Amino acid sequence: MSLLEKFERYPLTFGATPIEHLPRLSAALGNKVQIYAKRDDCNSGLALGGNKLRKLEYIIPDAIASGADTLVSIGGVQSNHTRMVAAAAAKIGMKCVVVQEKWVPHHDAVYDRVGNILMTRLMGADSRLVDNGFDIGIRRSWEDAIQSVKDAGGKPYAIPAGASVHKFGGLGYVGFAEEVAAQEAELGLTFDYIVVCVVTGSTQAGMIVGFAAQNRANRVIGIDASGTPAQTRAQVRRIVDDTAGLVGLGRSILDDEIVINPDYAYPAYGVPSDATNDAIRLAARTEAMITDPVYEGKSMQGLIDLARKGFFSEGSKILYAHLGGAPAINGYSYYYKDDGADREIVMANVKSPLAKTNSDPYAANYPPMFP
Ligand SMILES: Cc1ncc(COP(=O)(O)O)c(C=O)c1O
Repeated sequence: MSLLEKFERYPLTFGATPIEHLPRLSAALGNKVQIYAKRDDCNSGLALGGNKLRKLEYIIPDAIASGADTLVSIGGVQSNHTRMVAAAAAKIGMKCVVVQEKWVPHHDAVYDRVGNILMTRLMGADSRLVDNGFDIGIRRSWEDAIQSVKDAGGKPYAIPAGASVHKFGGLGYVGFAEEVAAQEAELGLTFDYIVVCVVTGSTQAGMIVGFAAQNRANRVIGIDASGTPAQTRAQVRRIVDDTAGLVGLGRSILDDEIVINPDYAYPAYGVPSDATNDAIRLAARTEAMITDPVYEGKSMQGLIDLARKGFFSEGSKILYAHLGGAPAINGYSYYYKDDGADREIVMANVKSPLAKTNSDPYAANYPPMFP
């Protein structure tokens, strides 16, 4: 029986997302493990989809029931989340205000005009650029936006960054775990590990609760992309506890069932390292699977590095959760402007261990990452 039966769901996605084998990526890593991807990046017809729609499916019924007329949320300039809130608002006929903060020390001429923010504007959301730096917590700018809707006579419905600390934010990815179990039965295989990017926390937290019901929560390997892993871990812990209580899991989750690897977020949130970019290229050149420099490129980097290091036992089947995010890559065009011409060179590079180097000229200015 599903842990989610008692919750209302407003469909925003196509349904169960496909799982595909990635044989050329597996071969590029020596075929010691077999890699599969669960394509949550292809989960919907709404503005290119992504992980936030699974979460919003359980939040939108509450927004509608509240009588609100405006969804209000927050993210970075190239936030996937605010794109998805704008999409949900358009789909259900509500207005939308999104605060977009300068979370990323990244300097590309069209960064605030292409990709996610372009689509957000196109869908009619009132996108407000604000000068604050990165923080996954509750922000003054967001509270101000909520107040501004009230002052204008509207009725706001507040959705926090990443839809994560919302009371229903963890439910969608409990459903992911149940979906994986059903697909494993159909495919006649069992995944040994699930690799997932983590920043605001409710994607991994929901998975942990869902997989805990199958006694394998510690097989969910979170790859931190926030660069503030202590804060992210604390937020995952909180969402795990709240979500486990909400769905009636019937037991608490132990600390060692929450696995978050902080090694790949450098040099900063939203800034790819050379190794991130090599991982993005390898997934693109072996499988035509596009990952982004902020989130999925970092979890792909973690997956590749951990596979090369022998972290996964030989013969393991690994499920890479592809959570979306490709639109942001348009704001990072300078990194890839010479790609293609350099094919052999890049393929040679990715065979070497992924080193912690960065040729970004701004790298020295980034905040220190690890306490
Ligand atoms: C593409 C993508 N991957 C991963 C994440 C991380 O998910 P979460 O914020 O739930 O930890 C996000 C959002 O933050 C995202 O947009």
